[in-house]
Amino acid sequence: MVVVITGASSGIGEAAARHFAREHGARCVLVARRADRLEQLAGEIGGGASHVAVDVTEPDAPARIAEHVGDDVDVLVNNAGAAWREPFAEGGWEDVRRTMELNFNAPVRITEALLPALRKRGGAVVNMASVAGRVARPRTGAYSASKAALNAWTDALRAEEADNGVHVGAVLPGFIKTEGFPARELLANPATRWMVSTPDRVAEAIADVALDRRAERIVPRGYGAFITARTLMPRLAFRMTRGGAFTTSTGGEE
Ligand SMILES: NC(=O)c1ccc[n+]([C@@H]2O[C@H](COP(=O)([O-])OP(=O)(O)OC[C@H]3O[C@@H](n4cnc5c(N)ncnc54)[C@H](OP(=O)(O)O)[C@@H]3O)[C@@H](O)[C@H]2O)c1
Repeated sequence: MVVVITGASSGIGEAAARHFAREHGARCVLVARRADRLEQLAGEIGGGASHVAVDVTEPDAPARIAEHVGDDVDVLVNNAGAAWREPFAEGGWEDVRRTMELNFNAPVRITEALLPALRKRGGAVVNMASVAGRVARPRTGAYSASKAALNAWTDALRAEEADNGVHVGAVLPGFIKTEGFPARELLANPATRWMVSTPDRVAEAIADVALDRRAERIVPRGYGAFITARTLMPRLAFRMTRGGAFTTSTGGEE
């Protein structure tokens, strides 16, 4: 089984690569910008792992990844992503543009490039969305918009590709401690520490979605309650997010 993972140089992507190689004997294709990290990880997980060092927002990135894998791909994990955390009045359109470019446009373009090969193998696409795509908070509007778009597009593509044998699913993590999302303030407070989970938990969910062909997994599962509350009680959700619940002065976590 060949698994292409974008954003594999740290955090959730790295954990997913280790999980697929260890638990499923997968041959991983690691994608991110930091070549040294990818090379080292490929050596550690073995199994014929290789890497493509590329900025996924570059125009030629999808073609470079497709050329590297050829027809040899069973699972695509669109995981590379980031949050810049600025209020709209400060970050403006530029913040929205760069966030959509990385978190939405890049997964769409890479999927487009690999879809013909995935159809030949009856493969799977796993998109790394977020609880933030269903429950938005101040300072991360661009991020939430990009993940909401990814959620919606995933649902549509799942329905479209079902008859072609390609499964398309999403993973929606809550707060997960990683380099890009350190969750410092939540971890520092004993009352909120429980809210932060690990990349390994997300890696298991990615494998579930890809291999058990699940539509979506929320990690940790309890975050489903926030999504339900936002849907059923939008005024309460607004008061909580506006009042600063789950936000930080430094923007240290997602
Ligand atoms: N941690 C959380 O709380 C959380 C919650 C919900 C969703 N997520 C999502 O999970 C995914 C992974 O995030 P993480 O938490 O594991 O953060 P992370 O440790 O910062 O990892 C981000 C990964 O994306 C790669 N990346 C960033 N920009 C890139 C670009 N332009 N081209 C290629 N690769 C790029 C980074 O590699 P290079 O720097 O080497 O390029 C890195 O491997 C993201 O999509 C994020 O939105 C995270």
